[in-house]
Amino acid sequence: MTPVSPIELDIAFQAKGATDPAWHRDDSAHEGDGKDDLQRDRDRIDRLTDSWSTRANVRKSGPDLTLDFDPRKPDFLTELLPFHDHPLYQKAPEEFKQAALSCGWIAYNEKTVAIESKIVSPACMHLIDGDVAGFPRHRYRSSVAQALTDEAFHVLLVVQATGVTRQRRRLNELVLPSFELVGSMQQLQETHSESWKKILIQLATAVVSEVMVSEYLSRLSNAFDIQPLNRITTEIHRRDESAHNGLFKSLGAVIYHGLNAREREFFVGALSQPSMWFASPELDVWEAMLNQIGFPNAERIIADCRAQRRGKEIHLDLSTLETLFADLGVENSLRERALSV
Ligand SMILES: [Fe+2]
Ligand SMILES: [Fe+2]
Repeated sequence: MTPVSPIELDIAFQAKGATDPAWHRDDSAHEGDGKDDLQRDRDRIDRLTDSWSTRANVRKSGPDLTLDFDPRKPDFLTELLPFHDHPLYQKAPEEFKQAALSCGWIAYNEKTVAIESKIVSPACMHLIDGDVAGFPRHRYRSSVAQALTDEAFHVLLVVQATGVTRQRRRLNELVLPSFELVGSMQQLQETHSESWKKILIQLATAVVSEVMVSEYLSRLSNAFDIQPLNRITTEIHRRDESAHNGLFKSLGAVIYHGLNAREREFFVGALSQPSMWFASPELDVWEAMLNQIGFPNAERIIADCRAQRRGKEIHLDLSTLETLFADLGVENSLRERALSV
């Protein structure tokens, strides 16, 4: 039986805890763009900043990398594979299905590294460096630097955890192409020559990613049947991200309110796209990984997934976007225009 580590006990204790910690209270569901709302955002950023030294996982002991590795346990959840219901996947030999799950865990984490390093960290540096007109950088430099520190720690977390997987599953040589989420943001930035637009696209993608990443992590952090180190690693990350969720909504509100009318309109338009990019099944990455592990009928499986995706209309998740606009205090006229595009 896998021994229960101190962090596991801590997680179990917190899961049973009756009350949410103060920094996790969701007081963001407010309408309008009045001064009270902005004050609430400032208060929330201050509260999160003050609690960082006791809540941030970079300040605590990390996961126990010596946890028993059970080769019979899957590294990832089957239902998170974009082709899990494809008949050719289902009838593949078990060893290939297990290898695909190991690839799924590695890709999940490499995508996390890409989000942290290519989307969120550069956005934090723009705020720290004062590249965003109207953003009171000196007031929030520490808060943003704390978040940046958290993200660097998350890169370490997943590099360590996937290092164990790569070594134990003999996937050290697995190479992944870049992710659609990052590529889509960069393509949009390239269509604009003005640096303020590129920066606002970066910030909008970071805000949306930080709002969505908690849910992305929570599916795996609740999966008790997978490799324990993988679940615990994801749970530690999720805890930090539950604080970032509120922090980046409030930073987004402060950014928005510091912009002029033209910048606001552009920022709101930029916010409406990343949720769609975030939902990408990353089929190019899957195609590369399945081919590298010699998965039977890999090309056919991926081609069918692509055809199925082309056949479906990809819709924006309007309810998530409406909630985000309300949280940021976006004016009604801009909200309606962005949602009707
Ligand atoms: Fe993170
Ligand atoms: Fe984060």
